[in-house]
Amino acid sequence: MKKYTDREIAAFGLDPARIPKHIAIVMDGNGRWATAKGLPRAAGHRAGMNSVKEIIRFASDIGVESLTVYAFSTENRKRPKEEIGILCGLLIEYMNREIDELHANGVRITSIGDLSWFPTAVQETVRAAEQKTANNPGMRFNIALNYGGRAELVRAMRLAFSETDEPDEDAISRNLYIADSGDVDLLIRTGGDVRVSNFLLWQIAYAELYFTDVKWPDFTPQELIKALKDFAGRERRFGGLK
Ligand code: FPP
Repeated sequence: MKKYTDREIAAFGLDPARIPKHIAIVMDGNGRWATAKGLPRAAGHRAGMNSVKEIIRFASDIGVESLTVYAFSTENRKRPKEEIGILCGLLIEYMNREIDELHANGVRITSIGDLSWFPTAVQETVRAAEQKTANNPGMRFNIALNYGGRAELVRAMRLAFSETDEPDEDAISRNLYIADSGDVDLLIRTGGDVRVSNFLLWQIAYAELYFTDVKWPDFTPQELIKALKDFAGRERRFGGLK
């Protein structure tokens, strides 16, 4: 739930009228962060988990309506079994540890992607978190797990065609995993790569894109503030004229 007043938000150097409603993040660079410190990749994922916690809290406090993070792509299934196991373990640990605070803050958790691929323990933990928070009025926290943007579109189009022979854009939008989070306003990618990687392809049609070399474990609320200032300075025309 929004915690800060507009004055407090302005004190961060942010324009309260220009906070994106929907932020999406490709949380990249955990592995390289760890390797650069001579640590195992798992240490990077654990540090990344802490960034997730901090960023969710800050985004919720400043009144962001939806935050969607890429935690595991369909391509990530190609990683060694051991690393996949570590990521699954961290996800369960994170949910168990944070669910009460998220719930108390009114955050509503939804997973997007094909959860059925994951071990039962992951599925049960995620479903339980979704159910517990389903009626919460605060920020929507969407976590992409075994998610691919093209797969989401195929699914949405099939569903739309089952409703009507001639689906329009609204019919497709309605059948996306997180229809009520709407379009993405700001897409952030950490870790230095400048690509979209099959994330929310439909929803980013008019998103502002923000790329930073900062690796995900180092992406603090201060870094998010930088991205939000950059966003606030952009002129969004949605294809029209000024
Ligand atoms: C990218 O870093 C990150 C991932 C594939 C996983 C994201 C997972 C977390 C942030 C931790 C757990 C998440 C939650 C929600 C509890 P990378 O391994 O691709 O980094 P690299 O490009 O440096 O190898």
